[in-house]
Amino acid sequence: MSYQTIQVRRLTPGCGALISGVDLSQDLGNQQFEEIHDALMQHCVIFFRDQHLTIEQHKDFGRRFGALHVHPNAPQLVPEHPEILVIKADENSTRVAGESWHSDVSCDPEPPMGSILYIHQAPDGGDTMFANMYAAYEALSEPMKAMLGGLTAVHDSNKAHPYRKGATDRGDMAFPASEHPVVRTHPVTGRKVLYVDRGFTTHIPQLKKHESAAVLEMLFRHIETPHFQCRFQWENNSIAFWDNRSAQHQAIFDYFPQKRYGHRVTVAGDRPY
Ligand code: SIN
Repeated sequence: MSYQTIQVRRLTPGCGALISGVDLSQDLGNQQFEEIHDALMQHCVIFFRDQHLTIEQHKDFGRRFGALHVHPNAPQLVPEHPEILVIKADENSTRVAGESWHSDVSCDPEPPMGSILYIHQAPDGGDTMFANMYAAYEALSEPMKAMLGGLTAVHDSNKAHPYRKGATDRGDMAFPASEHPVVRTHPVTGRKVLYVDRGFTTHIPQLKKHESAAVLEMLFRHIETPHFQCRFQWENNSIAFWDNRSAQHQAIFDYFPQKRYGHRVTVAGDRPY
């Protein structure tokens, strides 16, 4: 694919590309917007360095790609901005969000299309890993693809967020669970992706309990194959924008007791099919 208004440098053959030549605090022209969208579709996750965005500019960038999603049960820590999910850790943290491989909020009936994480303060360490779910699907054998093609899986927020119960006074807090196809079709590219994740997926209802546990564990390990991955090393004011339909990610909490702080804007998606 050729790009006229941005530069795109692939990180690994698995996934990920670093985008330069764009200031995300400014309104994007149509061609630049389309090229950023194309790069996201091609590489599953894209990265930007040295960006300086206000909260409104961060949200405006997200809105170019769709309506903004509000997390069903995360604490809302930025007054007047429920769409901002704060990602933070410091000397008091014992764990961080997203330490298991996952696709964001896959427990929602209509899980988010994408997430835009803007890290203001980066520690030494604290990388995020990403994995390409087209590649994960395509690497399966034909008999396995045929079996999985007829199955659904349950994604339950209680698996990912049990510790959040009672953690905030949000009156609208919800802990959704949804059933999605194990293999979904990407609505833009039309390609198939593997869509179960260790963070949220609990079971495959069409299988017996022990079959479901064994098949899911095999798929979770398969998804973690290094060939499908890239690893992003944050600097202050970097942005990662991932497509939750074609990529999974995992946060690495290896930097205690240093501080890490950022804001995530999440773009709404549609019902997997
Ligand atoms: C997340 O799952 O959105 C958090 C990723 C990170 O903190 O690197």
